[in-house]
Amino acid sequence: MNKKPLLSIQNLTTRYPSPDGGEPLTVFENANFDIEEGEFVCIIGHSGCGKSTIMNVLAGLATATSGAVIMDEKEVRGPSLDRGVVFQNYSLLPWMSALSNVIFGVRARFPKWNRKRIRDHAYKHLDMVGLGKGTEKRKPSQLSGGMRQRVSIARAFAIQPKLLLLDEPFGALDALTRGTIQDELIRVWSKTGQTVFMITHDVDEAILLADRILLMSNGPYATIAESVVIDIPRPRKRADIIHHEAYYPIRNHLVEFLTTRSETVAAEDKRSGELNRHPKTVRPGIIPKQAVTEQDNPTLQFTRDIPTYSLDNGAPI
Ligand SMILES: Nc1ncnc2c1ncn2[C@@H]1O[C@H](COP(=O)(O)OP(=O)(O)OP(=O)(O)O)[C@@H](O)[C@H]1O
Ligand SMILES: [Mg+2]
Repeated sequence: MNKKPLLSIQNLTTRYPSPDGGEPLTVFENANFDIEEGEFVCIIGHSGCGKSTIMNVLAGLATATSGAVIMDEKEVRGPSLDRGVVFQNYSLLPWMSALSNVIFGVRARFPKWNRKRIRDHAYKHLDMVGLGKGTEKRKPSQLSGGMRQRVSIARAFAIQPKLLLLDEPFGALDALTRGTIQDELIRVWSKTGQTVFMITHDVDEAILLADRILLMSNGPYATIAESVVIDIPRPRKRADIIHHEAYYPIRNHLVEFLTTRSETVAAEDKRSGELNRHPKTVRPGIIPKQAVTEQDNPTLQFTRDIPTYSLDNGAPI
């Protein structure tokens, strides 16, 4: 059965005019990819390649130069409460307390709820990210960077959008808080069937969380080069996942892309004329099992004449 994707990015191109009237900057050109309903997709690429630019277009907060974003068979033309965003720079309303920032989102999303229900819901989500006990009354300027990021995460989770767009949501968090909120994200995602599109720089985080990782080549003229399937069963535990046989093949593939191929892939695409393509799907975690007998794999040629070696004195080894 060929299911319609929840989100379809079609020939998306973004160019920014040059400040001095010269050549415009083409961040990406003809990007194409789909996201299925309920999928958890991460995108990885070097700083400045255009990840936030893509996310802003998906959120409906920026318009691409050409191409389209289709969600639920309708073109995205502006922001919507169906799409919850956690921005790279948190974007809280500075004049409101942490609690009011979350309440603001919840009230807009669930206008029929009474005050108590909205407040309880907001508190529950602030608690979930470890904020409460007085911190919820502080304004963003009175919170640390990590705390602001947590308020932003609480607000996005609390509005329960169909599509959660996360731009490096855990970048400013310490390892312990990061782990707790990653676990919470996975719990919410597996319970609600939401779809998640998340930008991260952290390959281990992406392997832990994602069904698929999109690899973006360096800009300008960046492309979504590959879609890497994470063939590691869920539930995944942080401590165990590194022992799974697929872990290092996947990790090495991602690191190899970031260190070498991300630089050259756009030029290769240009040379081959393959500009409008969808990313190719790769599964580095599927390791072909080696056949041990001819019956297991009759196509294997077994050498029967095993050469014999001998020591200098003629004795067989
Ligand atoms: N409003 C803008 N006007 C002009 N150029 C812009 C604008 N926004 C972004 N850019 C440029 O577009 C390119 C992509 O920026 P973007 O913020 O999407 O990168 P990114 O992949 O999210 O990077 P990072 O990982 O550092 O967050 C960069 O070269 C940036 O300088
Ligand atoms: Mg960014």
